[in-house]
Amino acid sequence: MIYSQVMETGGKDMSANSKQKHLVIFQPSGRRGYIREGTTVKEASRQLGVDLEGICGDKAVCGKCRVRIEEGFFEKYGIESSRKHLTPISDTERKFSNLQQERSGYRLACQACIQGDILVFVPEESRMEKQVVRKAATDRAIDLKPALRKYYVEMMAATLDDRLGDWERLQAELSREFGLSNLTIDYQALLTLQNVVRQGDWKVTVSVWMGKEVIVQQLQKVSAVKIAEFVE
Ligand code: FES
Repeated sequence: MIYSQVMETGGKDMSANSKQKHLVIFQPSGRRGYIREGTTVKEASRQLGVDLEGICGDKAVCGKCRVRIEEGFFEKYGIESSRKHLTPISDTERKFSNLQQERSGYRLACQACIQGDILVFVPEESRMEKQVVRKAATDRAIDLKPALRKYYVEMMAATLDDRLGDWERLQAELSREFGLSNLTIDYQALLTLQNVVRQGDWKVTVSVWMGKEVIVQQLQKVSAVKIAEFVE
């Protein structure tokens, strides 16, 4: 087990010139230490040497850093852990969990900030795989499941006779070309859509998150129709 080097008073770090620090324990690794208030759980994991998944630079896009915050007093670890010891869950975080998971204490580690002692369980899917050195190279098919994909589309320009909105026009093209249906669009992306499609002469590259939501559009054309931006 690793303990951070802090002065402790009654289970809390009260070092001079610092914010209060709180006890954070990660399971199943058992790594623990005192972490400064306001630090994200993800940053705490880095400080304590726990490898957590995450490929979006802590921007709440990939949803891979999910952890579960345990509730109650754990005598074995000497910790009173509470989900209230984190900043409240945001709407952005809610995109990555249903009500049941939320009630079970699941949070995005890159968004939840520490405000008290917590016991953090890292589910298997959120643990970063250790690098494996193979003795001999072999051919192996890898099934890529990117969280974000880029799609290049050429839209029909609006005319006086065809007054379909830009978003409806883009949806129709993504459905026709790539079979993407029931898409939503990020609010910021929607605000810029009109300018982007006109500046790009009705040619646009869009990034689609998890096949569900358009989150960015760009003017430039990409060479491949689908490009994995982030790869699992
Ligand atoms: S690191 Fe991507 S959502 Fe947290």
